[in-house]
Amino acid sequence: MDEKKPSTADILAKIRAQKAAAAASSETPAPAAPAPESAAPVPAAEAPVAPAAAPKPAAPAAKPGSTKDILAAIRAKGAGGAAATPAAAEAAPATTPAKPASPAASAGPRPSVQDMLKAVREGKVGAAPAAAAPAAGAAKSAVAAPAMPAKPASATSKKAPSPQRRSLAVLLVVACTSLGCFIGSALTGSVLLFLAGMLVWSLLMTPFMAAFASLAEVGGLWTLHTARFMMPNVLVEPPSKFKVGPLSDYPLNTVSNKWKDQYGVWIVHTDQYEGQNLIFALASVCTHLGCTPSWLDGEQKFKCPCHGSGFYITGVNFEGPAPRPLERMGLKIAEGMLEVDKSMKFQEEMGQWTDPASFVAVS
Ligand code: FES
Repeated sequence: MDEKKPSTADILAKIRAQKAAAAASSETPAPAAPAPESAAPVPAAEAPVAPAAAPKPAAPAAKPGSTKDILAAIRAKGAGGAAATPAAAEAAPATTPAKPASPAASAGPRPSVQDMLKAVREGKVGAAPAAAAPAAGAAKSAVAAPAMPAKPASATSKKAPSPQRRSLAVLLVVACTSLGCFIGSALTGSVLLFLAGMLVWSLLMTPFMAAFASLAEVGGLWTLHTARFMMPNVLVEPPSKFKVGPLSDYPLNTVSNKWKDQYGVWIVHTDQYEGQNLIFALASVCTHLGCTPSWLDGEQKFKCPCHGSGFYITGVNFEGPAPRPLERMGLKIAEGMLEVDKSMKFQEEMGQWTDPASFVAVS
């Protein structure tokens, strides 16, 4: 009386054996005929005879029915009589040796296969009855999420600093050097400076970056040259008016070379021009072809080194190819000082030496 209820595996094995027996037999529903009570000691091959026929005798003959129906019928039968239990227990090892009967199966009502499958599908494996544990475990292992792949070594290991990477200071130095070359090239128009800047810049660049930087630099230089073209050309010259000192600095019948190199004029104090005691400024430009004559104090004349033209202390030409006298600049007294105005020129052959602006009379 203390016998256990058949497990699902036992029931399934019994059903399979019953089906096999039915297939082997004739068309007549033979399993339904024998009495169920005498099936207790029957071996596994004859086991389906007793339990299957009692609750649902017509089912195997007409239609075997679903597994669910058969299981329900067998359970109903198993609950009433224990005659089928030994047979099922014997049949179980033959069909499903890997599934031993669970000790917890006798503790309460057994769950159906659908319940077990539902529990497995819903993931409630832990809450399922003990009898469903093996199947649920198998299903769980089947639906378990795949293990996360290990991180690649490249993702876990830190990137080693690239040998191409250069420090900011080096980049700044190179950038400033190349920029200086480019600015110098733009200001002076030197192609060599431009090429040097390109070479320095491209040394630290990849070919693509060097090409792109060159394109940008050419565009920048083009812009600079355009901006320079839009600006007016300013010629920086010394002022046209300048003070050369008081009258007392220039004795009579002397020629001062003090301002020759800086302003290109001689300051002459003489009384040999028409008997007048005058101070005037002579341009140090030969009237032949523009060479710069020299004052020869011993010979008291200006002598041009190019073609030998000679001029008196008054500036009047007397030898050589020079066609006319030297030119005078404007001269006046301003704030007690002699002030030369190079913007004014006076030519003797045109009668302009008589202009008071061309000399300062000394009394
Ligand atoms: Fe002075 Fe020819 S340039 S003599």
